[in-house]
Amino acid sequence: MHGVAGRRTEAELRLQVVDATRLNENSVMPPFHRVAGLTAVRLDQIGQPLLSAAEVEDVVAYLLTLKQDRADK
Ligand code: HEM
Repeated sequence: MHGVAGRRTEAELRLQVVDATRLNENSVMPPFHRVAGLTAVRLDQIGQPLLSAAEVEDVVAYLLTLKQDRADK
């Protein structure tokens, strides 16, 4: 993940977290904000995203701080 903000735009990072399948249809990364079309969701969690929109923005803001590549990555 080091330097991810140097490789991806803010919009791409947001999409990756909200619904990674928008960027890679075969992604195994769980969608953190999509609620439609999911399988294997706990019954009391149906319709509830893993992260709220505000929480997604917090994650995106953090990812945007990861700008520099590290030699030891
Ligand atoms: C809050 C938790 C997570 C965040 C913030 C996050 C973020 C990201 C980001 C920014 C990328 C793009 C990396 C790049 O372009 O170099 C990525 C890719 C990826 N992530 Fe996550 N991720 C999370 C959780 C997970 C989990 C739980 C899984 C798997 C169970 C996962 C699986 C993957 C995979 C396989 C990729 C490669 C691209 C793809 O297949 O979509 N991620 N993730």
